[in-house]
Amino acid sequence: MSRNHALLGLSLVVFLRTAVPAQQPAAQAPETADDIKAHDTFVRVCTKCHPAERATAEGRSRSQWEATIISMQTARGAVITPEEFDTVLDYLSKHFGRQSVVIPGAGGRAGQPGARGPRSHVGAADRHRVDDVAAERGQITYAAECASCHGPGARGTSKGANLIRSPLMLRDRYGSAIGPLLKRGHPTPTAAPSGSLTDSQITDLSHYIWQRINDTLQGSPAYEVRDVLTGDPNAGQAYFNGEGRCSRCHSPSGDLAGYGARYRPVDIQQRFVFPSTATGRGGSAATRPKVTVTVTMPDNARIDGVLVSLDDFHVALRDGSGEYRSLTRTAGMKIVKHDPYAAHVELLDRLTDTAMHDVVAYLETLK
Ligand code: HEC
Ligand code: HEC
Ligand code: HEC
Repeated sequence: MSRNHALLGLSLVVFLRTAVPAQQPAAQAPETADDIKAHDTFVRVCTKCHPAERATAEGRSRSQWEATIISMQTARGAVITPEEFDTVLDYLSKHFGRQSVVIPGAGGRAGQPGARGPRSHVGAADRHRVDDVAAERGQITYAAECASCHGPGARGTSKGANLIRSPLMLRDRYGSAIGPLLKRGHPTPTAAPSGSLTDSQITDLSHYIWQRINDTLQGSPAYEVRDVLTGDPNAGQAYFNGEGRCSRCHSPSGDLAGYGARYRPVDIQQRFVFPSTATGRGGSAATRPKVTVTVTMPDNARIDGVLVSLDDFHVALRDGSGEYRSLTRTAGMKIVKHDPYAAHVELLDRLTDTAMHDVVAYLETLK
């Protein structure tokens, strides 16, 4: 399957290579074959279950993108090869990146009870429940038998794959996938052949590696859910009406009336920090405001629609009749994006940790 994908990718690159370079977008870095391939891989891998716009609605830092892709694999069942992973990660970091990294606590999922403890995060925790004691035992075996090739944190070295993103590992539950792999005979640094590892050693290894995967997801600012209600509501109110300029668009007696009664604090935080991705009660995709775009062609023909994807090279939209249109950007084409979430995207860059907690504490009091 991954071979078929590789072949498909290759033939598309060859096709696009001959098809595209004639028209280069104005004032953009020239489109390289790698860029075309990366875009193609992104579309192939990330639009199977939702439109590209769902994936790229917000800029994220590289580590946030890494955790996002891992969570698509662990919690959503996306099948992604290590090569595709790297390509998509580079692509998203380059075209949808964000410099400032720190939004600790910005996350949590609607409808995920108990998503609070230090070990909880999107998805993976309820797929493989890590037993910390077993993980500790696993770490000892790991350090002796695996670390020299797969790296101390399981992130891979030139001698062994990154296990945090390994499709095989992400399928593994309690040793179900690494067991057969190791029993077949896998390189080890000690004289003992890997086939001699016992079942319980393998289960412990699985716990340890899953602990590393979970830590990666938790380390992602987008998913950290601890310390949600530690802010000062009065300071939050002052920020809301003052520095935060929230009152330009929202009102505690208008659209946000009773807000604190509608959502749990962790959901308030998610919805406030990433409103365009908020799902769950009362926030269906259908009623959420859409990012739209107006494309004016060199001959002044105008196309309006709901934005599907936009990068240096292409713009795709769904027009008023629901038809999907994908255009290669050219010099002389004018693209104006109308983003109702622009204020929130901009907020990501200036929102401090303290202000965020204060605002959540304030919104929580709106009952
Ligand atoms: C197997 C299906 C599937 C694939 C493949 C998939 N996703 Fe998702 N994705 C989902 C589901 C389900 C949701 C949650 C429902 C929603 O928000 O639309 C989601 C939501 C998202 C979100 C918004 C929520 C969040 O976690 O911030 C982002 C961003 C995202 N996906 C990015 C990606 C990227 C990048 C890829 C490609 C590497 C990808 N997705 C591939 C199923 C998938
Ligand atoms: C001498 C180096 C070396 C050691 C030691 C080693 N590995 Fe590997 N491992 C590799 C290499 C190289 C690959 C990728 C090629 C392959 O699949 O054989 C790999 C692949 C894997 C994969 C599959 C990754 C994927 O998605 O394809 C897993 C899981 C894995 N190793 C786990 C382990 C565990 C657990 C240990 C310790 C018991 C271990 N390895 C020890 C070199 C090593
Ligand atoms: C320029 C206008 C604008 C500004 C300024 C703004 N927002 Fe928003 N906000 C929006 C839009 C548009 C939405 C999406 C509304 C929707 O989903 O129905 C939104 C969504 C939200 C939501 C989620 C509502 C829901 O449906 O759950 C919260 C909470 C929120 N904003 C709080 C804030 C706070 C706090 C500030 C100030 C720090 C702020 N906003 C600044 C426009 C703005």
